[in-house]
Amino acid sequence: MRKQTQRELNPHPDPNTSRLGMMPGARVGRYPDGALRSGKYLTTSASSCGAGSAGMEGSECLQLLLRRCREAKDCAYCPYSRFPVGAALLTVGGEIFSGCNVENACYSLGVCAERIAIQKAISEGHTRFRAMAIASDMSDFITPCGACRQVMREFGTDWDLYLTKPDGTYIVKTLQELLPLSFGPEDLHKA
Ligand code: THU
Repeated sequence: MRKQTQRELNPHPDPNTSRLGMMPGARVGRYPDGALRSGKYLTTSASSCGAGSAGMEGSECLQLLLRRCREAKDCAYCPYSRFPVGAALLTVGGEIFSGCNVENACYSLGVCAERIAIQKAISEGHTRFRAMAIASDMSDFITPCGACRQVMREFGTDWDLYLTKPDGTYIVKTLQELLPLSFGPEDLHKA
């Protein structure tokens, strides 16, 4: 039986299954299946999640975040694409807001899981984020679309994205890595 908070580093991801894992400096890992006790869904204090992204690695908080994004995926409303996605967003205060993709018969009105999670957090008064975990059924790591990256960027570039695969592996990227040379709110004052 695997220890609850154990994280296995995989310095050599399979290049055939992981184009992202091949990138230099990629942080990769694995979450233990079913490692969290049921019922323990909400983290309520920042201290329980440690400080900074380094504090997340191997933490119960990270396992919870990874679990919440998988659970959110099960709620996806995606009858048109049949491509369920789940996201779980961790605030600096330790709260987690999840989201799933919500599609529409008017196709262009569909919204990605990542943006739903952000909208839920913002609408409850949270604007500072530490990390987001994203899950899909894809055999490769799920990566957010460009529109979602830009929406994330509105709230800073120095937070982590945990991009997962159904086999339990993940890689971590900062938003800065996913959206370099980005345009943000600060730029509006440079005119
Ligand atoms: N989708 C997300 O929700 N997040 C992503 O990171 C990629 C794509 C959704 C949008 C649409 O509902 C479906 O997946 C297929 O593109």
